[in-house]
Amino acid sequence: MTNDLDVIILAAGKGTRMKSDTAKVLHRAAGRPLIEYVLDLAAKVSDHPPIVVVGHQREAVREAVGGRARYAVQEPQLGTGHAVLQAAPLASARRVLILSGDVPATQPETLKRLVEEHERASSALTLLTVRIRGNDTYGRVVRAADQSVERIVEAKDATDEEKRIDELNGGIYVFEREHLFDNLRKLSTHNAQGEYYLTDLIAMLRSAGHRVGAVMAKWWIEALGVNTRGELAMVDMAIQQKIIHKLMDDGVTFRNPQTVVIDSTVSIGNETVVYPFVTLEGKTAIGPRCVIEPGVHLVNVTAGENVHFKTGTVAEDAVIEDDASIGPYAHLRPGTRLGPEVRIGNFVETKKAVFGAGAKAAHLSYIGDAEVGADANIGAGTITCNYDGVNKLKTVIEDGVFIGSDTQLVAPVRVGKGAYIGAGSTITKDVPADALALSRTPQRVIEGWAVKRRGAQKKKR
Ligand code: UD1
Ligand code: MG
Repeated sequence: MTNDLDVIILAAGKGTRMKSDTAKVLHRAAGRPLIEYVLDLAAKVSDHPPIVVVGHQREAVREAVGGRARYAVQEPQLGTGHAVLQAAPLASARRVLILSGDVPATQPETLKRLVEEHERASSALTLLTVRIRGNDTYGRVVRAADQSVERIVEAKDATDEEKRIDELNGGIYVFEREHLFDNLRKLSTHNAQGEYYLTDLIAMLRSAGHRVGAVMAKWWIEALGVNTRGELAMVDMAIQQKIIHKLMDDGVTFRNPQTVVIDSTVSIGNETVVYPFVTLEGKTAIGPRCVIEPGVHLVNVTAGENVHFKTGTVAEDAVIEDDASIGPYAHLRPGTRLGPEVRIGNFVETKKAVFGAGAKAAHLSYIGDAEVGADANIGAGTITCNYDGVNKLKTVIEDGVFIGSDTQLVAPVRVGKGAYIGAGSTITKDVPADALALSRTPQRVIEGWAVKRRGAQKKKR
């Protein structure tokens, strides 16, 4: 942490190449808007709230950033040099670190290295560079015969020879403030894009006899700016793989990490095994020793220890306690709470349903707006009829109740503790504790009926 550093985050550009109505810095990687990563970085290197330069979609960007930053407005957006200049009235520290809102994967250690090198060499400007082959969008770092940085040429302005340079500008810079803003006022727009290029300051400082240093990123993703959906996908995947590697270091097993989609807000306990093609989003928190089988999709799900999510299970805004088992192909909708050792089986859908310890709904059921007591057993094909066309109504199934298969519980209805419901019943009235309720018509048996019918059918032919 250093206090003589102001951080400026450039976030005013339109992001034309994204072909999107959403501001580029609000596109998400591993579930978070790109700019949030940059704000986290800023907080790690300076005590001053960063200055975010907003312009395009500024209200949406401000809303996402909130009170964590100071703001400068750039209107119209005339290029990165013009953007930095808008922050001049707010910057007062001796040094200025410039970050791009679209470069989210930089590591704090790299920024520290950048600032240290800047300090060590007493440079006017130190920039982060990166080696990437075959890139055709980033600025090229042109070095002099003595290998010092001479200037940056933007890809669109580069000659064929310059285009072959594989050391690229990462878009991250530390400046001595005294060499920044006055020089920005001298920029011109004589270039392919007709913009004020921040990158032109390098040649300007050099020709005024100042030192320009460079530090190379160790990991190319660190300097990857998101300009296109392709670059967004690369950054998104790289951040996710980093999260997964961290989880593996913490004792989580991934059978095929490359197929797992994970948000940076997800936590997983040790000894949990994650199978391929699993998606974990939002504030999902999985405890230790769980199993998450293929095709499971969890959004804002909290699970305790030793919970087993079987293949194809989908859950959102649900809380699951220890030793529960869900699926295959179950759907837990918002407001589902499963107590310890609950078993939700094949093709069961739940919504606003609270299950007590050890309760079971193992096959083909819909349990919505319901309370299910401990150790209750809900037979295959049971449905809570919770909607009368206008209102959602509640079903209460008390502890130890046994509900026979293919039962409809027409809410509002309560089944008392320990009661039994006969299979195939439509229950419309409350059932007292320990009673048996059944509503199906008695079975009739007509001996020999089938023989007679077959006889009649033969005659017709
Ligand atoms: C910029 C650099 C390029 C570097 C690349 C790395 C310039 C001229 N070029 O190019 O050398 O290799 O980043 O990612 O600086 N922005 C504004 N106002 C503007 C224009 C841009 O705030 O008027 C913001 C954008 O929102 C973005 C950042 O500045 O967050 C970078 O702008 P972008 O248009 O993406 O620049 P690049 O073409 O990527
Ligand atoms: Mg960019």
